[in-house]
Amino acid sequence: MKYLVDSHCHLVDERFDFDKEDIIDNFEKDQILFVVNPGDTLQSSKDAVELASRFEKVYAAVGIHPHEAKDYDDDMEKELCKLIEEQDKIVAIGEIGLDYYYDHSPRDIQKQVFRRQLDLAVKYDLPVIIHSRDAIQDTYDILAEYSDRIVAVMHSYSGSYEMAKRFMDLGFYISISGTVTFKNARVVKEVAKQLPLDRLLIETDSPYLTPEPYRGKRNEPKYVRYVAEKISELKDIANSKVVEATKNNAKRFFRISIED
Ligand code: NI
Repeated sequence: MKYLVDSHCHLVDERFDFDKEDIIDNFEKDQILFVVNPGDTLQSSKDAVELASRFEKVYAAVGIHPHEAKDYDDDMEKELCKLIEEQDKIVAIGEIGLDYYYDHSPRDIQKQVFRRQLDLAVKYDLPVIIHSRDAIQDTYDILAEYSDRIVAVMHSYSGSYEMAKRFMDLGFYISISGTVTFKNARVVKEVAKQLPLDRLLIETDSPYLTPEPYRGKRNEPKYVRYVAEKISELKDIANSKVVEATKNNAKRFFRISIED
């Protein structure tokens, strides 16, 4: 099997406090080429950048999650800008977007903060990692305003294939997570089956969304292989094709040139 890329994992999460160095040291053995660790708060963004500075195969994204939108202000934005201007290995803005399932921040604030961070992506010419839950139409409408200036990936995509097509028409990518392995995930399976290989990324969103056969345990980047395997099974193509395509897509999307 060739190298895998986990396009979205949270190694700075406290559930990795005791062993993240070991996990990263095992990337070679586990055939992980690189991972991208997005931020969701200012602190986790800083932590992601710090981790990326220490490990070659870890890249960072910085951004404030819609849950935390209510805390976003000018000072926080200045700190994000400072990180982007001063630190290497920041390959994207994210994860940012809208979450109407939890509604931890008021929706008008979520939209405002989403737009402000999309402005940062334009300013610094960075791709964007999108979180969207129960908010697909508003997410689409806002992203469509920016589509001539940014490229985005819909992280752990859970919408319909029709909607995925509309995002792809904007030039965006779709990322499939371990949910595709869940027995009752009919829609995600259908989307994975139909998605063109050249727009597909794969991810774990670890420590969350652990795929079968490890569902219920802590997720880890190495389990991204089960996402690739399930997609190849659904598409009825060789697993190596999915692995190769998603690796090349991730390198192109994040503009990472790393030898494999
Ligand atoms: Ni995430």
